[in-house]
Amino acid sequence: MFNFAKSMLLAVSASVLNPVLGAATVRINALGDSITGSPGCWRALLWQQLQNANIKNTDFVGTLAGQGCGFTYDGENDGHGGFLATGIVKNNQLPGWLSISKPDIVMMELGTNDVWSHLPTETIVAALTKLVDQMRSQKPTMRVLVAQITPMNPSGCSDCNQGVINLNKAVVAWAPTKSTAASPISVVDCFTGFNTATDTNDGVHPNNSGNAKLANCWFTPLKAAIALAGGNTTTVIPSASTNSKR
Ligand SMILES: *[C@@H]1O[C@H](CO)[C@@H](O)[C@H](O)[C@H]1NC(C)=O
Ligand SMILES: *[C@@H]1O[C@H](CO)[C@@H](O)[C@H](O)[C@H]1NC(C)=O
Repeated sequence: MFNFAKSMLLAVSASVLNPVLGAATVRINALGDSITGSPGCWRALLWQQLQNANIKNTDFVGTLAGQGCGFTYDGENDGHGGFLATGIVKNNQLPGWLSISKPDIVMMELGTNDVWSHLPTETIVAALTKLVDQMRSQKPTMRVLVAQITPMNPSGCSDCNQGVINLNKAVVAWAPTKSTAASPISVVDCFTGFNTATDTNDGVHPNNSGNAKLANCWFTPLKAAIALAGGNTTTVIPSASTNSKR
């Protein structure tokens, strides 16, 4: 006899279990400065967006604890307030951080403080190159998402925004030359649509409006990287009810 109730139960359990079995936990490290870490509530919004999209095979990692953003989220990160990309290289800090957090994906948003310090674009890009090399020493298949950083207009730095524009342009040219099949680099545009007048209170750091924009710019590229890094092996298994009809 065809047992309809039993076949329905099998079909339901197969469809519920399969996505859970499909994807491994992916370790994600947000690497940056105060825009990322102090408090960097765009990461909380981003985590929330992943939950809403039912992407739960993530572990956000880093040597810094998350700060309060009004709700519980997975907040570890390496957003070190005031740090320069060139400073992190000079002080050889990244290898130690990575050896603790062991990420599969690094979301790098650096350069703001370098630009603020009036460093040449090429010097900043050379630092990004070194940081990517150090990421690959930690994990040869590291997936790297690198931001075109947000615009800036702090008081007393009238040429800062042009520095950001120059850096972002250079990053777009640099990324494909540094990207490899084993360790791809994707550029994430967090510049376009971000307005220092309405998305920050100080010309630099995102307010709630800016945080929403940062979460949005990262979401789709991060989702794609998670699917690739986690090995999205979700496959369509013939349902039990289909089988039982044979
Ligand atoms: C963001 O900051 C700007 C400038 O201070 C302000 O006009 C705007 O209301 C703020 N938006 C939010 C959502 O905090
Ligand atoms: C994995 O693939 C399935 C089927 O194509 C899709 O529905 C799901 O959204 C994917 N998961 C992620 C994390 O991309």
